[in-house]
Amino acid sequence: MSWTVHRRGGKLRVIVTKDLPGKRWLDVLAAADCEVHVSTSREVLSTKEIVEAIGGRCDGAIGQLTETWGAELFEALRRAGGRAYSNYAVGYNNVAVEEATRRGIAVGNTPGVLTETTAEMAVALLFAAARRVSEAERFLRRGEFRGWLPDLFLGKRLWGGVLGIIGLGRIGATFARMVAPGHAMDVVYHDVRANEELEDQFRRLAALQGEAGERPISCRRAASVEEVLEQADVVSLHVLLDPSTKHLIDAARLKVMKPDAILVNTSRGPVIDEAALVEHLKQNPEFRAGLDVFEREPELAPGLSELPNAVIVPHIASATRWTREGMATLAAANVAGVLKGYPVARQLAVEEFLDGPIPRKAPSIVNAGVAGLASA
Ligand code: DGY
Repeated sequence: MSWTVHRRGGKLRVIVTKDLPGKRWLDVLAAADCEVHVSTSREVLSTKEIVEAIGGRCDGAIGQLTETWGAELFEALRRAGGRAYSNYAVGYNNVAVEEATRRGIAVGNTPGVLTETTAEMAVALLFAAARRVSEAERFLRRGEFRGWLPDLFLGKRLWGGVLGIIGLGRIGATFARMVAPGHAMDVVYHDVRANEELEDQFRRLAALQGEAGERPISCRRAASVEEVLEQADVVSLHVLLDPSTKHLIDAARLKVMKPDAILVNTSRGPVIDEAALVEHLKQNPEFRAGLDVFEREPELAPGLSELPNAVIVPHIASATRWTREGMATLAAANVAGVLKGYPVARQLAVEEFLDGPIPRKAPSIVNAGVAGLASA
C-alpha cells in the first residue's frame, strides 16, 4: 500500500483513504496543523489495511462510502488517540455511528454540496430512460443507423404526467422543482414527514398558472408507497438506506407500477431488490429504469447490463468537480473542526466553507449531540 504524506511534521496525524479532488481540503487540514497521509490506491482498502494505516497514532480520518466503518475501525482509531472521522459522502449507511459515539469519536458527513448535483443526475437518468438515449447511441455507434424512420426508438412523453417521489427531503424536493414545473407534471410523494415548504411553493405556482390560463400543477403527499407507485409515470427514489428502506422496491411493489413507468434510483442500491428489477424489466419491455447505484456495487445483478430498457451509470450522481471538491472541503473541515475543538455549525451554510477564510466551526457532525460537541 502506498501513501502520500502532506505537511510532514504537523502536530496532528490524519489519514485519508482516497485522494480527493481539489486543494482546499489540504489547506483546511494544514491550517489545523495536521500531517495528512493520503492513500494513493484506487482499490477499496480493506479494514485490515485501514487499521494498519491508523497505526499507533492517528487523530482523525476521512473515509469512503465503499468502506465499512464499524467497531473494528473505530476501536483502532480510539486506541490511536483518534477523535474525529468524516465520511466523504452525505450518506453514511456504511458507518456504525453508535460504535464511534461509544468511543467518543465524532462522525461527520458532507451535506449541502450534493443536492442539486445529485438531482441533476436523477433528471439525466430520467430523460435518458424516457427517450432511450443510451440504447439509441449504442445503435448509432454500431453503425446500424440507415436513416430516419417513423418508429425508430419510440420513447415515453413525460409532459403532463405524474411524477412520483419516494423521500421528499433536500434532493427529492430539488428534483421535483427541476422536473415538474417545466413538464406540467403533478407530484405525488411519500415521505414519513410532509414537505410543507414544497407543497406551499407548488400551491403558489398553481395560482400563477391558473391566472395565466395554464393547467395548475399540484404536489400531494400520498398515504402509502403503493399509492405513489400506482399513480406515477415516473418514480424517483431519494430515501436514506436503513433497515426500513432495504428492498423498499421489491417484486410485489414493481407489479403495482404502471407497465410503462420509469424508475430512477440515485439513493442507494439496496433500496431496490435488483434481481427482482431485472426480472421485471425482462417481463415488461416498456418499463424503464435509470440507475446510478447498485445493490452489490461494483457488481451488477446478473442480466442487468444486457437489458436495453435500463440506463446504468457507475455511482456518479455527485460527480461534478464543484461538488466533489466541496465534499472534500467539508470532510476536512469536519475533522479539523473537531480536532481544534470548534463548535458544530447549527445551520450549515456551505458557501462559507468553500471560499475565503476557513470558519472556526465543524460543518456537519451527525452525532454532535451525543459526542458532547457544542453548536455555533
Ligand atoms: C453520497 O454522498 O452519499 C453519495 O452517494 C456520493 O455520491
